[in-house]
Amino acid sequence: MIKKWVENVGANYGRVRIIKLEPTSYESTLENMHPDDNNRITEEGTGWVVRAWLQLTDNPDSYMIVREEKDDASTEHRIPCAAGAQFLVDSERLWHAVWHDSGKYSEPRYAVIASFESGPELESWVQSQLP
Ligand SMILES: [Fe+2]
Repeated sequence: MIKKWVENVGANYGRVRIIKLEPTSYESTLENMHPDDNNRITEEGTGWVVRAWLQLTDNPDSYMIVREEKDDASTEHRIPCAAGAQFLVDSERLWHAVWHDSGKYSEPRYAVIASFESGPELESWVQSQLP
């Protein structure tokens, strides 16, 4: 199922992995916010590498938190992590971390993370997945 999801996107992809996240507080989530380093080896003339998440466990009250600036809460956006939720983030540009709310959940959260090359293929996948 995961292999199919990644291949169905149709864009070049790199590392694919499953992430397990234990429940935590909002405060620790903010401490864990970071930008990724996706483009260290991206070659001139190839697309900017971004990351896509596919939520496996059903955690609609947990959120991927993204911010333009680490300490600027006014730039914060929250993406709910219901089962099957998929979202694409320029995770090198945006500060991010998932808040798997320990006030709501006691079991870990699982999701797929895959790196994709930006370009027309990724763009058409995004268009095909819009609600
Ligand atoms: Fe990250």
